[in-house]
Amino acid sequence: MTDDHQLPLRRFSVTRLGHHGDGIVDGPFFAPRTLPGEVIEARTADKVLTDIRIIEPSSDRVTPPCRHFRSCGGCQLQHASDVFLASWKQEVVRSALAANNLTAEFLPISVSPPQSRRRATLAARRTKKGAMAGLYARGSDVMVEIPECRLFHPDLMKALPVAEELATIGASRKQTLAVAVTMSRNGLDIAVSNGKPLDGPMRRDLAALAERHDLARLSFDDEVVVTRAPPEQRFGDVVVTPPSGAFLQATQEGEDALRADVRRIVGAARRVADLFAGCGTFALPLARDMAVHAVEGDAAMMSALDAGWRRTPGLKAVTHETRDLFRRPLLPDELAPFDAVVLDPPRAGASAQTAQICASSVPVIAYVSCNPVTFAKDARQLIDHGYRLVSIRVVDQFRWSSHVELVAEFRRN
Ligand SMILES: C[S@@+](CC[C@H](N)C(=O)[O-])C[C@H]1O[C@@H](n2cnc3c(N)ncnc32)[C@H](O)[C@@H]1O
Repeated sequence: MTDDHQLPLRRFSVTRLGHHGDGIVDGPFFAPRTLPGEVIEARTADKVLTDIRIIEPSSDRVTPPCRHFRSCGGCQLQHASDVFLASWKQEVVRSALAANNLTAEFLPISVSPPQSRRRATLAARRTKKGAMAGLYARGSDVMVEIPECRLFHPDLMKALPVAEELATIGASRKQTLAVAVTMSRNGLDIAVSNGKPLDGPMRRDLAALAERHDLARLSFDDEVVVTRAPPEQRFGDVVVTPPSGAFLQATQEGEDALRADVRRIVGAARRVADLFAGCGTFALPLARDMAVHAVEGDAAMMSALDAGWRRTPGLKAVTHETRDLFRRPLLPDELAPFDAVVLDPPRAGASAQTAQICASSVPVIAYVSCNPVTFAKDARQLIDHGYRLVSIRVVDQFRWSSHVELVAEFRRN
């Protein structure tokens, strides 16, 4: 093993940020928590530089707002100004498009405020003295406690002591629990994995813990142990109870921004297909004004969407279909009845579905993406088949991280 401190300090200039938010210097080597234009000194034991000292700081450098930033892996970019981050995230999208010979008009970025994250997966384990909960350090399995986290919503912070108790009840000495927490209208919705096998005494202790902390629902390794109140989410004015562990946009502000753009893009459409619909984040509010066909791979999420629709008066028709859109995308004749399509795929993108849209005559597409690289490839297909990319908005609901989300409008020429 190399002793880093025996290596000489070398001087570098940071040329740009990589996709994970690290500075990149000649080599290439990665320099975490640096910014383009900075001159640094560091040791080169590995691809990731160590012992980094900032010799000439960037004018975009700010004091990180969170005291856990140096140790915690939850945020990568708290040392950069908001202005720098906004322009860097837009640049990530611009360069993904440029790699496919595309350009676009950008609408102003929408950034979620500090303390707005409403879901997260915590790590929790037993210790010699009791238990601890927090996030992992960067690229490591070392856990960091985050009592003054600036990212989480204050209600999400309430999950930290709950996760510690969960470790005491549900983890062996060698296990680290993954505690997925989502805020709901009726309290925290918690799904634990990687714990001990459930038995009678554990079920009793977990139910008592849910009572003590006023949880809405607690699931343990895929079994719902207790539902004290339905863990409801509100999509616009429609209330839905998602299944345990279901996808939910990371912040309320991000969801609202995405939904406002989706609504603007579909405009006066009368029939819309919402593909990769989840529990109805877009489909159900759209049904105030238009008929919607929602398609999604997860049957439990489709049932939640359907139940939300049934109990809400005044909505237009919402049909739904559980379908794997990678293997069985909607075909051109199935797309023919729709005036607009909403697409919100996972990181892998929607290549198979995009190919079918290209062969269809759907006039408008609202494409929501959490991966600029796969988005740009799908955009290239659409544009090669007669669509125009009207505009893009970056919606930053993963503040201080390198994640980039966007919503884009396409129209048939
Ligand atoms: C980024 S989420 C968006 C969900 C929803 N639009 C929302 O905003 O809450 C992507 C969704 O695609 C679904 N999904 C993933 N792979 C799929 C596939 N092969 N076919 C259909 N749906 C899939 C996931 O279950 C998830 O609900």
